[in-house]
Amino acid sequence: MEKIKIIVASGNAHKMQEIGDILTDFELVSMKDMGFDGEIDENGSTFKENAYIKAKFIAETYNLPALADDSGLCVDALGGAPGVYSARYSGGGDKANRALLLKNLADAKDRTARFKSAICLYFPDGKTVYGEGACEGKILFEETGANGFGYDCIFYCNDLKKSFGEATAEEKNKVSHRFRALCDLKNKL
Ligand code: IMP
Repeated sequence: MEKIKIIVASGNAHKMQEIGDILTDFELVSMKDMGFDGEIDENGSTFKENAYIKAKFIAETYNLPALADDSGLCVDALGGAPGVYSARYSGGGDKANRALLLKNLADAKDRTARFKSAICLYFPDGKTVYGEGACEGKILFEETGANGFGYDCIFYCNDLKKSFGEATAEEKNKVSHRFRALCDLKNKL
């Protein structure tokens, strides 16, 4: 049987691979394959809203189902920040984002945090299916490990009992917020 085609609203090759490994019943194509390399304004106030905005835009542009994800780090002592602003927290990239977070947590007693991910699959008729996932942990006092990206090296993962920076991609992909959101989505399809 022919597989349903879904456009993945991401330019990130690692995400394409991660999604492809889980959603095996679909033919996944990237935005780039469709010839799209523009920016989509992510102005939602939640991960779900941002995933919806991106998936809807691409689905309506190409009249095909589209899948988008949005994720970030939520720190309890900072009222859930940086949250949807994770990528642009400091305005200066990953290293500056980590430095600002450590500075803002300098006096915090509670360093509990979690990565969250929301995925939206939007069909051209307006139907939506969502997947959500989280990965619990805490913010370390200094960078630990050199693997991963973003906030990985300052995030201690409760499941792995080490930082994401110390984890291999394989270890991280078994417990990550994105993996869990994808499994949640798959269960709903
Ligand atoms: P995106 O929505 O997946 O592009 O993630 C937005 C931002 O959240 C990234 O730029 C990172 O700063 C942060 N982030 C999301 N997922 C992760 C992760 O798995 N590790 C580290 N940082 C992440």
